[in-house]
Amino acid sequence: MAFPKDFLIGAATAAHQVEGNNTNSDYWLQEQMPHTSFAEPSGPACDHYNRYEEDIRLLADAGLNAYRFSVEWARIEPEEGRFDEAEIEHYRRVIACCRAHGVEPIVTLMHFTSPAWLIRKGGWEAETTVEYFRRYAAYVTERLGGEISYICTINEANMGLQLAAIAKRFQLMAQQAAKNAKSAEGTVQVGMNFEKMMENMKFAAAENAQAFGTPQPQIFVSSRTPEGDALVFRAHQAAKAAIKALYPDIKVGITLSMHDLQALPGGESFAEAAWDEEFRHYLPYIQDDDFLGVQNYTRTQYGPEGQLPCPAGAELTQMDYEFYPEALEHVLRRVREEFRGDLIVTENGVAVSDDSRRVEFIRRALQGVSNCVSDGIPVKGYCYWSLMDNFEWQKGYSMTFGLIAVDRATMERHPKESLAFLGRQK
Ligand code: BGC
Repeated sequence: MAFPKDFLIGAATAAHQVEGNNTNSDYWLQEQMPHTSFAEPSGPACDHYNRYEEDIRLLADAGLNAYRFSVEWARIEPEEGRFDEAEIEHYRRVIACCRAHGVEPIVTLMHFTSPAWLIRKGGWEAETTVEYFRRYAAYVTERLGGEISYICTINEANMGLQLAAIAKRFQLMAQQAAKNAKSAEGTVQVGMNFEKMMENMKFAAAENAQAFGTPQPQIFVSSRTPEGDALVFRAHQAAKAAIKALYPDIKVGITLSMHDLQALPGGESFAEAAWDEEFRHYLPYIQDDDFLGVQNYTRTQYGPEGQLPCPAGAELTQMDYEFYPEALEHVLRRVREEFRGDLIVTENGVAVSDDSRRVEFIRRALQGVSNCVSDGIPVKGYCYWSLMDNFEWQKGYSMTFGLIAVDRATMERHPKESLAFLGRQK
């Protein structure tokens, strides 16, 4: 595959998922709760905070030339208004390490985790968050802006609405289960699980109230209201303005989680509505951005009744969605019809135990990217998710997305064949 000389091929991580001991964050608190929905706590994660040099060296030695990572707000501003210069110095060293290895740093300001204090102030549904985020973005840019060329303000800014849709589906299922439990008295299993779930929710609410002062904390990855959805994008705009005022040449964008939404006959209106919710209605907020970060993992199909399950016999990943690397090309082409700025694939990847399937996934996904580039679509880079196996949020360490395996007992790194394969695609 022939990519232009300056094309970026890299890998991505997020602070909380790899650094370890992110103790001032909202996630950390939620992971410790007795009735948490996390499979396990993040703990020391991959100790990337201390081992970033080795990780960046492995990335560079394999031939990759970009590293997308996030700086952690909960470290930089652990208490409201108290900024920690030592943490800025840490990230300055990470950026310098990238540069020393000829690797372009792509810096994300907010990748799902927030300082716990922000959530106590109402989190991602509170108007004040726009100004808090702007101030944090300005602080980071003032200190590090001279050393970076790309900033992603907010990772998967549309995640809250996607979660709201899933929560609605779950609610319907729970209502159905409640009905079933009632009508099928004696079928212990149904009733038991349902009661347990309800009980857990009650306890979790009380634990949240204690930690955050509200039973329903509005962390970034919570179901978003339409007002909260707009607020996230206004926070992006405020941060972008602050960055540009300091360093106009930094390329600024947001990243979105995007499915390849496919309509089977009769499913057109569902696919169209989903596209509107996932992408189109954000255009007024992002159309003047330098780039859009496209994050794609699979496709979703719609029929006359709405969303369809994966096609029968489809290969599934550890995440239970379809192995379908062609989705990326389809999404890039579709986005291009409506967004005029540059595109960077800020995440694309697959959780599989057999690394040869990862190689195959990357090969086919990159073929799609290359087709787009040949057709003049301004795709400027591709970052595989993820550089290493890491903390997959509520699922804990069970999902292996990485190009590098990490032995979490010794923290030893074991590069996989897929890392070398990706490095050879330049
Ligand atoms: C997120 C990552 C996550 C990945 C794999 C994206 O939604 O940005 O943090 O680990 O997908 O699920």
